[in-house]
Amino acid sequence: MTLRWLTAGESHGPGLTGIIDGLPAGLPLDAARIDHELWRRQQGVGRGGRMQIEHDTIAITGGVRLGQTLGGPVSLWLANRDWANWQDRMRVTSPGEGEAWPDPVTLVRPGHIDLAGSLKLGHSDVRNTLERASARETAMRVSLGTCARLLLEAFGIAITSRVLSYGALTLPYSQTLPTSRDGEISLAELLAEGADRLTEYQEAIANEASLARTAGTSLGGSLQTIAYGVPPGLGHVGQWDRRLDGLIAQHLMSIHTVKAVAIGAGTDLAGMTGQESNDALYVRTIEEQQPGGPWWIRRTNHMGGIEGGVTNGEPVIATLHLKPLSTQSAALPSIDIATGEPADALRERTDVAVIEAAAVVAEAMLAIALASALIDKFGGDVLSDMQAAHAAYLVRIYRHPVNH
Ligand SMILES: Cc1cc2nc3c(=O)[nH]c(=O)nc-3n(C[C@H](O)[C@H](O)[C@H](O)COP(=O)(O)O)c2cc1C
Repeated sequence: MTLRWLTAGESHGPGLTGIIDGLPAGLPLDAARIDHELWRRQQGVGRGGRMQIEHDTIAITGGVRLGQTLGGPVSLWLANRDWANWQDRMRVTSPGEGEAWPDPVTLVRPGHIDLAGSLKLGHSDVRNTLERASARETAMRVSLGTCARLLLEAFGIAITSRVLSYGALTLPYSQTLPTSRDGEISLAELLAEGADRLTEYQEAIANEASLARTAGTSLGGSLQTIAYGVPPGLGHVGQWDRRLDGLIAQHLMSIHTVKAVAIGAGTDLAGMTGQESNDALYVRTIEEQQPGGPWWIRRTNHMGGIEGGVTNGEPVIATLHLKPLSTQSAALPSIDIATGEPADALRERTDVAVIEAAAVVAEAMLAIALASALIDKFGGDVLSDMQAAHAAYLVRIYRHPVNH
């Protein structure tokens, strides 16, 4: 992958570090936009106590000068505001003489990395494993993803998302997958739609979350993330590891709680005929023509904007299915790894459901995968060089009839 990124840090440690390497020079990058995306990640009705503690504020610590990227790695720092309450238990240095060691966590939570990770890494204190596995890390993913997203926006590509289901509640979104015709609205409108998404159906969602909270359990759900304005030709058919659907799926599947990722109509395609599933191509009518745009049109988008591992000009659509959160306030049967006895699972502070927050994380992951493919296609040194290559490319591919 051309755009590389790393995160470091624990859930209750001093904070999170992130590096994104491969962004072009000259990209405007300001902390306020990252903070806005971090704020969006903290919204949603099923969130627990931590969201009241953490009001995330990013610090850009490298790779940006006078508001623009320099062309080297961009580094970010996100402090954990709860650190004050954890600095004894999560201290970096070993306790001095006469100082107490923190009590080890020995009760493991089914569904979390607790048991497998402690076995793997040789930890007798489960906290040594669970701290890094926590989805607090997704705050840094959102921050790094915002850098990628700003690059996409400089090419008219906008990413949004919507919650499709929340526990047993299915939200009344159209089953029709958006096509590029729906994307022919402005970037500003799309961004506004993204912001409004959180206010839709809040009452029904809140009701579902409250029932689960009372029952001491948690919920899963599904969500869709959509990128509009993606030109045809991102990704590559040449090798398995350059196919964009695979790259996107890996980014999205790596998000905590995500257990299935589908592109376009996904699993529904298996039950369709080829006549129904393929997105037929038509020559645009005079009314449908857009100056400088494609002369062809698709009226469906079952393929989710990707054919043969390469974008086809339709919106890129991915659906994610999330399992219910593993930590339960009505604790599940488990084991104590210190005593070898049966014991109730550990009860950490927990959310009831995180579908809305996960949607923001999914947008960030999709942004990184697409931005990497964009850099591959148009070159990654200088933003204006990339934009010139992009503009020339669009002229070539939208020439009518195709004449290379
Ligand atoms: C934004 C977000 C917040 C999360 N918060 C919690 C939580 O409060 N409690 C919990 O048990 N799991 C939470 N999770 C999920 C766990 O981190 C995740 O299930 C766990 O690390 C195991 O990884 P896996 O589900 O990918 O196998 C959250 C996930 C996301 C995306």
